[in-house]
Amino acid sequence: MKIIQITDLHVDEEGEYPFDIDVRKNLLRMLTYIKKEKPDHLVVSGDLCYRDPKPAIKEWVKEILDYSEVPYSVIAGNHDDSTMLAEVFQLKHLLNEGELYFAKKIEKETVLFLDSAKGALSKKQTNWLKRQLKNANDDVLIFMHHPPVKAGVPFMDQRYPLQYIEALQQLFFEHPANIHVCCGHYHVEKTIRLKNLTVQITPSCFFQIDQHSSEFKVDHHRIAYREVVVEGDVLKSTVRYFNGSKK
Ligand SMILES: [Fe+2]
Repeated sequence: MKIIQITDLHVDEEGEYPFDIDVRKNLLRMLTYIKKEKPDHLVVSGDLCYRDPKPAIKEWVKEILDYSEVPYSVIAGNHDDSTMLAEVFQLKHLLNEGELYFAKKIEKETVLFLDSAKGALSKKQTNWLKRQLKNANDDVLIFMHHPPVKAGVPFMDQRYPLQYIEALQQLFFEHPANIHVCCGHYHVEKTIRLKNLTVQITPSCFFQIDQHSSEFKVDHHRIAYREVVVEGDVLKSTVRYFNGSKK
């Protein structure tokens, strides 16, 4: 099974170039590269919108993703509204009290998709996750927007971390096999391992953040996708970078 993940698109209104970056062109170019790789699935792990969630932006992203003809899943980030996302992507049947989380069979693997758009997982979603983990005695692959760990990136760890992070980690630690989480939100490339939990943060399709600064500082403007290949017990993950598009 080959999955490609892109994250933190931060698409703005047509004609807008936040930070002088052509965010729409970034997504279009990224999809031409991804199409050539012929993945089994593409995951868009949140923050489709630049700042505020807007249906017109999500509709544009949907149109572009549909046109790529790669099967895909979307989850919400903190700059998205899960209900709006579900409406635009026709996923209302998966909405659960305003959260969009689900399990999906991709090739032979069951992959979990969580909703951390509000900065925390509800009790209901946490209970659902507990049941999913109980049913899967084996290794589990999860996509979510926020990293479920503090990642040693001071600007993001101090200002925008996931809430109730220890409780979620405890749930993962109780699982008898490995948990592999692919996420975004931090605009960095980083891998963190804690016991049976491996967290891989995928760089943004917008810009990357300086990993050492407590203040907001752009590191560089290259954009990337992550490829995850699962073959039996082996999981291989690669990040591939491209030049970003300036205005
Ligand atoms: Fe985010």
